[in-house]
Amino acid sequence: MDAMPASVSIGLTTTEAPFIEDARSHGELYIRQPYELYSEENHEAWHKLYTRMMPRWEKYANEHFLKGISSLCLNADRVPKLDDVNRFLSPLTGFKAKAVSGYVPAFLFFDCLRNREFPTTITIRRSDKLDYLPEPDIFHDIAGHVPMHTDRAFADTLVRFGECAHTAAEMVSGIRDKDEQIRTLTSVIKAMARFFWFTIEFGLMRGRDGLKVYGSGLLSSYGEIQHCVESPEVQRYPIQLEWAINQSFEIDHYQPLLFIVDSFDHLFDLVGQLEQWMKAGKLNNVAPGEPGVDEADLRSFLDAAK
Ligand SMILES: [Fe+2]
Repeated sequence: MDAMPASVSIGLTTTEAPFIEDARSHGELYIRQPYELYSEENHEAWHKLYTRMMPRWEKYANEHFLKGISSLCLNADRVPKLDDVNRFLSPLTGFKAKAVSGYVPAFLFFDCLRNREFPTTITIRRSDKLDYLPEPDIFHDIAGHVPMHTDRAFADTLVRFGECAHTAAEMVSGIRDKDEQIRTLTSVIKAMARFFWFTIEFGLMRGRDGLKVYGSGLLSSYGEIQHCVESPEVQRYPIQLEWAINQSFEIDHYQPLLFIVDSFDHLFDLVGQLEQWMKAGKLNNVAPGEPGVDEADLRSFLDAAK
């Protein structure tokens, strides 16, 4: 019997994609998007995710996201091609979605942002398990993050955040004692990761017509986009940098605590403040707790510091 064509049988399903396993086993982080491998089930998953989300975006997403998603001309029926997305995105802010095989160590991730590249997962969750998965997928990355990258003020904020990673690498390169260097770097990365989490991933913004969502973790979650705005169980506070960098978080349930910014200019200024605090040593002893900083994250900063 003839083998089934690749486009029918293999697929690029999260945690089940041989193409990704293969790239990882060869240490390839930056990859191409083998579009022909998406199965009909993959396209079906995209279609279901996208169409059920549309009315919730209309209701809860901030205006910059809504403008962004229409300017990307995404097709509700098919998994997007990164080249097509970039054709609409790049002329607006210079940003590009760049396909990756999996987790990108912290410094490399932030450095991509500085270069206006967004590391983008190309696999998609199973069509019968749309709700929660711990890994990012192309729906989270392209429908949750990338529309925000069409906005100039937001895009500039990401670049500024990428620059902070360089400031951090430079700062720790001056610490002679190895143990002290690792301890300090762990704290600084933790502070940066928390800031990123409470803004870029889970941020809320005050708008003309009430509280709106701009964080990509919320924008790509059918349940949480509503819960985060409407549930009386969620604590929502104006962002304070000292709080955000010392606040731990857990990733496997709806967030009980969210921070609100006034605008993307406000967010941009906060990143500047984060960098000032970093230079002043105020990120060197943040509160312990999540997120963990692993060996690959530390190594990525130390390699950059050389
Ligand atoms: Fe994300």
